Amino acid sequence: MKTTIDPLGLPAQAFFERFRGESLTFDDLCALQAKTIELGIHEVQLSTRITRNISINTPLVASPMEDISEADLAIAVALQGFPAVIHSNMSIEEQAGQVRKVKRFENGFVHDPITVGPEERIAKALQILKETGISTLPVTDEGKLVGLLTKNDYTGRKHADMKVVERMVPVERLAHQIVPIDELPEEDTARLSRANDLLLESHAGVLLIVNGSGAIESLVTRKDIEKNEAFPDSIKDRHKSLVVGAALTTKLEESRERAAELVAAGADFLCIDSSHGNSSHERAVLEHVKAEYPQIDVIYGNVATAGGALRGVEWGADAIRVGKGVGSICSTSQVSLGTRSQITATYSCARAVREYCRINGIEPRIPVISDGGYATFSAIGKGLLFADAVMLGSMLAGTDESPGSVIYDRQGRKLKRYKGMGSLEAAVRGSAARYDVQGFEDFVGEGVVGAVRSKGPISRWVPQIKTGIRKCLQSLGYRSLDELHEAVFAGRVLLERMSESGKREAGIHDLAEYRRDLPLE
Ligand code: XMP
Repeated sequence: MKTTIDPLGLPAQAFFERFRGESLTFDDLCALQAKTIELGIHEVQLSTRITRNISINTPLVASPMEDISEADLAIAVALQGFPAVIHSNMSIEEQAGQVRKVKRFENGFVHDPITVGPEERIAKALQILKETGISTLPVTDEGKLVGLLTKNDYTGRKHADMKVVERMVPVERLAHQIVPIDELPEEDTARLSRANDLLLESHAGVLLIVNGSGAIESLVTRKDIEKNEAFPDSIKDRHKSLVVGAALTTKLEESRERAAELVAAGADFLCIDSSHGNSSHERAVLEHVKAEYPQIDVIYGNVATAGGALRGVEWGADAIRVGKGVGSICSTSQVSLGTRSQITATYSCARAVREYCRINGIEPRIPVISDGGYATFSAIGKGLLFADAVMLGSMLAGTDESPGSVIYDRQGRKLKRYKGMGSLEAAVRGSAARYDVQGFEDFVGEGVVGAVRSKGPISRWVPQIKTGIRKCLQSLGYRSLDELHEAVFAGRVLLERMSESGKREAGIHDLAEYRRDLPLE
């Protein structure tokens, strides 16, 4: 007997119909174990589709927010199996530059490395180290590589006032660790493995790759190679570049230009970023982009109703983004209407889109992304009962790669700034378009400026999230999202509403004190 049903639980459709007229969210929901567990956590597959044509290996997306999705985070999450959407709160050139930076990234290779000049002072190298953590600095003069300065070459106390040329290792002594670019294979994996071999042979910590005129093209360090070889989940396009998306606004004129630059820069998909989606403005942008770039998938949203989701599908969207007024930094629910609790919104939209695609023979089905409000692994698991992927803001804010600035609280704990795109601070820098702000005299914010606890590097934090998602699927007995969704929408996974006292019971309780070993508070 493999299925383990319970006569008191309800199939998803009956459950939500039973609570018709109520907006439910994560904590309101219990999902009952549906099958005897016959697999280990690490046998659970996390692959899914983020848009009609793009498959990813981890069912997450990084939100297009100023304090989340820029190139460094986009690279780090793509190595972990999911894309970021580069936000549009910057000039078109800057945003296209961020996309290019992600597309140019190669496992282990640092392109356009930071350099110093021979006549600069060691103090400059110390400053670079303090600001960026980078200590390996090629020394260039009029574009040509003339030496290498690493932290083995100086101490701050003794050499700060000396010139770089006095402490660097000159190019004549670096022959064993310099390689012309045309001597490396073109293919990604082969190039990394050849660079690795050359580094080992050289006994050095860094390999410098130069072009025909002696200028530095890129460098690769032993530390990076070791770090970067271990990304089996990374998501790549057909040219082996990492996958990345980019945001558009709902302003048609601006979006025409932005879309053209972003597509030229290599964005794999676009996302029309609107807090109040399902509008005629958004439709105009969607139809323009689909007519102009039929090969580029477009995410449409944000919606919170089945009708809103279906309009997006009818108008040509390649994915639907669901979530209104539920983000951690969001005050939309306090200043406008149209918001809805996230689990009800996600189920309603996912079911409607699934049914619509089935009836109209749309194959593959249009994915649904549940965006906002996710603060625990079990919340992500509950969102993924219905959605194909979950979009994260706060859970990725506070990572080393996120762009938010670092601050310290009164207890000396490290925090990172995280603000809503509807906050005044973000709006004056450009997100006004997302919130249809005409002028600041009567500005009403839809988001706050806050801070979250520092979470360390993506390479340590995201694997924990992935294990959390695997635990969620495994605890119901399923080995993939496809298997889970099939069971949920066929009514084989039973749901119950958790009572208020049940919620208290589900939290940690009746302890004099406790410690949590996760950065989830
Ligand atoms: P989390 O909970 O992951 O939510 O931090 C991220 C999502 O919140 C949305 N967002 C906002 N919503 N006012 C809003 O109403 C804002 O200022 C704001 N900024 C972001 C957005 O959908 C994001 O993915």
